[in-house]
Amino acid sequence: MIKDQSFASLGAHHSRARFFGQEQGQLAASPVLLELVNVSHSYGKIDALKGINLQIRGSEFIFLTGASGAGKSTLLNIISGELRPTFGNIVNGRENLFVTQVFQDLKLIENVSVLDNLRMANDPTIYRSDREFMNVLIEMGKVFGVYDAFNRRINSLNGGLKQKVAIMRALLPGPNLLVADEPTSSLDFESAKKLFDVLTYYNSKRTVSIVWASHNRELVRKFSGKMIHLEKGLLVHSGHACFI
Ligand SMILES: Nc1ncnc2c1ncn2[C@@H]1O[C@H](COP(=O)(O)OP(=O)(O)OP(=O)(O)O)[C@@H](O)[C@H]1O
Ligand SMILES: [Mg+2]
Repeated sequence: MIKDQSFASLGAHHSRARFFGQEQGQLAASPVLLELVNVSHSYGKIDALKGINLQIRGSEFIFLTGASGAGKSTLLNIISGELRPTFGNIVNGRENLFVTQVFQDLKLIENVSVLDNLRMANDPTIYRSDREFMNVLIEMGKVFGVYDAFNRRINSLNGGLKQKVAIMRALLPGPNLLVADEPTSSLDFESAKKLFDVLTYYNSKRTVSIVWASHNRELVRKFSGKMIHLEKGLLVHSGHACFI
């Protein structure tokens, strides 16, 4: 998780007309939260991302698809600030941009309870008291269908529940932008639909922008939101998910 991260400023030589967000007329009014300008990343000789231009706007729900190895995790790690690009700029569109991340391997503490994992998301700059935090936590637990599992250890939960706990932990500190690296292969359509319904609720209720990475392009097509697609490190803009 990052807070108050400062980024390099936008280089003057970039053509703004190429940016994806500006081609989406209906989204033009939402302010840009974060902008990637000609971002590339290499791990040694492996060019994982090549010249990515992307704007993430307020309240946007963006699905990021691509085959295994296309660069999805690398892109999410750059958006969240976990990883610095080898080349290019990242520009914050607002002050105090707060990004949280659901990692591909979830990074939950396996041998402690759901509640103890979630308590770690209590940020005293957001919640004035433990009671306020617990009220939000309990409400969110009920919305996500995790409340009944609060006292269970993480290592006793199935994959879907673990994923929900990880998403709750990322939502609780009140991010402006949540990036999630989702292994959808374990989710059937109904479970995925329920999860996306809940996320859509938070997306609109709390105006959290979401970038959700998935292997499963077919699944993503069933939801509304913007879809972008990575192919061997290159970003292909595909438009609104449900129209593709
Ligand atoms: N830490 C690393 N060191 C070296 N190469 C890496 C590292 N992380 C990723 N790569 C390579 O970079 C490329 C992009 O990997 P990345 O993990 O971003 O893809 P992905 O789309 O998330 O794949 P998956 O769907 O399997 O999670 C791949 O060729 C991968 O092997
Ligand atoms: Mg990945």
